[in-house]
Amino acid sequence: MNLLVTKVLTKYFGDTHAVDGVDFTVQQGELLALIGANGAGKTTLVNLISGMLRPDSGSIVFQGADVTSQSVHGRIKAGIARSFQLVNLFDQLTVLDNVALVIFSREGKTRNFVYLADHDRPVRQEAMDVLQRFGLENKANMLAGGLAQGERKLLDVAVAVALRPKLLLLDEPTSGVSTREKAPIMDIITAIVRSEHITAVIIEHDMDVVFKYSDRIVVMHQGTILADGTPDEIRTNDQVITTLIGTQASG
Ligand SMILES: Nc1ncnc2c1ncn2[C@@H]1O[C@H](COP(=O)(O)OP(=O)(O)OP(=O)(O)O)[C@@H](O)[C@H]1O
Ligand SMILES: [Mg+2]
Repeated sequence: MNLLVTKVLTKYFGDTHAVDGVDFTVQQGELLALIGANGAGKTTLVNLISGMLRPDSGSIVFQGADVTSQSVHGRIKAGIARSFQLVNLFDQLTVLDNVALVIFSREGKTRNFVYLADHDRPVRQEAMDVLQRFGLENKANMLAGGLAQGERKLLDVAVAVALRPKLLLLDEPTSGVSTREKAPIMDIITAIVRSEHITAVIIEHDMDVVFKYSDRIVVMHQGTILADGTPDEIRTNDQVITTLIGTQASG
């Protein structure tokens, strides 16, 4: 069953065809890797799906409902959550409060949220549970700004997961961390995604990571979809190999 469908989705920045007529589908329950060289349009596609950018044309249907003109907040309510290529945390708040905040906003309790976060036991408990699943419970009272890079990346994903999304969009959850740290981070994220039956789209440059964790891979190139298939199909796709070799991306 299709959870998300984009039809001829298009976003130009001046002469740059960032997303150019993209038909992209995400099936219920899958872990999909979105790959492609720097500038291929991956983040722009995620920005369009999460509502941070408006498309020039085309449509986005989520769970059968057209969400193309819905606000970011409306889409979060509908079940679309995302993390960021560069993390999006409140560095001056504690790790626990960063998670508690989104639980409050999810529940519509936005007034005096920081004060409430300190006093609302069920929310604090739920935030602690989330941190525990991400192995961050020992950092709960630290300021988010004081975390190591790998922990910051995990916390950014934890914040998105705390929204209880149906579709989780992760923009390079291991960018900026050492190669050694990538596997443990992906192990934690994919274990949570699998055990909580969250449908996930993960943007990732490291092909070892992509082949190891994904059910399906979509390859973007210059704003369009170049290939779409299982890891085995993509691994042996000559067009993908030719296009990605020499543009082996950093990120
Ligand atoms: N706000 C913007 N204004 C102008 N151009 C933009 C903007 N955002 C993205 N672009 C351009 O659109 C193209 C696609 O960018 P995008 O960030 O989506 O690529 P990406 O696949 O996520 O790349 P990376 O792997 O480097 O993160 C690039 O040429 C980029 O320079
Ligand atoms: Mg990007």
